[in-house]
Amino acid sequence: MTLSIVIMAAGKGTRMKSSLPKVLHRLAGRPLLGHVLTAASALGEDSSTHTVVITGHGAPAVEDFVAQASTGTHCVRQMPQLGTGHAVQQAVPLLPDTGTTLILNGDVPLIRPETAQALVRACGGQHLALLTIRLDDATGYGRIMRDPSGAIRGIVEHKDASEEQRRVREVYTGVMAAPTAWLKRAVMELSNDNAQAEYYLTDVVARAVQDGLAVVSSEAPSETEVLGVNSPAQLADLERRHQRSVADALLEAGVRLRDPARLDVRGTLTCGADVEIDVNCIFEGHVQLADGVRIGSHCVIRDAVIGAGAVIHPFTHIDGDGQPVVVGPRSLIGPYARLRPGAQLGTEVHIGNFVEIKNSQLADGAKANHLAYLGDSTVGQRVNFGAGSITANYDGANKHRTVIEDDAHVGSNCVLVAPVTVGAGATIGAGSTIGKNAPAGQLTVARARQTTLSGWTRPVKVKKSG
Ligand code: UD1
Ligand code: CA
Repeated sequence: MTLSIVIMAAGKGTRMKSSLPKVLHRLAGRPLLGHVLTAASALGEDSSTHTVVITGHGAPAVEDFVAQASTGTHCVRQMPQLGTGHAVQQAVPLLPDTGTTLILNGDVPLIRPETAQALVRACGGQHLALLTIRLDDATGYGRIMRDPSGAIRGIVEHKDASEEQRRVREVYTGVMAAPTAWLKRAVMELSNDNAQAEYYLTDVVARAVQDGLAVVSSEAPSETEVLGVNSPAQLADLERRHQRSVADALLEAGVRLRDPARLDVRGTLTCGADVEIDVNCIFEGHVQLADGVRIGSHCVIRDAVIGAGAVIHPFTHIDGDGQPVVVGPRSLIGPYARLRPGAQLGTEVHIGNFVEIKNSQLADGAKANHLAYLGDSTVGQRVNFGAGSITANYDGANKHRTVIEDDAHVGSNCVLVAPVTVGAGATIGAGSTIGKNAPAGQLTVARARQTTLSGWTRPVKVKKSG
């Protein structure tokens, strides 16, 4: 059967009080619309499905986002934005004359494909199927009106509802499925005679009743998946609900979260067995934690693969930025460490406080425990990189590599001016600025000799007379 999906994303989102179009506000690190597009693409696995996004307010930005988030999705502009019914009117020329149309709201982000699929089945190309939910506080939502026999007669928008109608807790979620040919006719005949002088898509329900089309409803399995975002408060509430469900799934899988209410996953987090995560950590992009990994409190970790038994101490920032940072098994990182794109650490590497690593490979057993910078470098096994030492990898125009071979020891407060190589087993004396290759197995020191002046006395303060 032909399935058409229309995602409404043209509204201004006045209550967000923001210059950013509402559907581009982020939930779990992704625009609201991105979540809806993902659900739509999960439904549209067969080729007879196509998706249309209605854009309007902030259309260029929304269309750019759609183009990079999904392929083969069409955008249609709604100018000006005269309501949800008017939005669907814009899609009419693109819709076929057969099959089912599924309507999704760009501001109802957590809809699960299974739930939408069940609604499409309930429609079956013949009935009008509404996804509903009962809410304790239904403020702002369209209320489902039923006759004494329980049959649905229509939807009344909050702003148009009487006191009595507002007491109805059964609401429309913004998701419906309808026979496409009928929907095309019904939306073209809507009027805007209501409190907001808008063309309400929800008025098609009363129209279906008139046309003798059966109106069926199915209740959403959870509130979280159908809550809409209309204000910063609703966005924050939905974010916490979503994060709580992510945390519950991790707990269920055996991950030990110190406090499931203090975790944020903005992407995917994959965990092995016996993983422990302390409070207030943020995971972004794709993060993998192998068996026995422990993450201390207040870490921010984005795009990283952490090996078995590694410990990330508190306040560490790991940012792979699409080029995953690799931390080898049993490595110890932090507290207060920073691993940047291209950091690749072997087994049992130790990176301590205020150490920054960028675009560098550190082989097994290498250590940089205090106040150091390693950029564009290749560091051998068991190298010890001393406190306060850095690679000077940038000459103001180009970046150069530093190579530190196995078992070398770089003393404290050294500057390795790249390109430069420190040979295997070499020792660099503290305070050295190394601009030429240091030979293997020997001590290289590059600093002024210490001298002592005998008989020297401190200056004495001259007393002013008068
Ligand atoms: C809508 C429903 C309401 C339902 C609620 C569920 C209508 C008239 N009301 O109300 O019954 O309970 O969703 O969340 O449909 N949009 C456009 N063009 C427009 C207006 C809106 O594309 O001209 C888009 C918005 O970007 C948004 C969606 O449609 O993604 C819903 O619009 P919104 O104004 O938020 O409708 P609600 O008042 O929440
Ligand atoms: Ca809404």
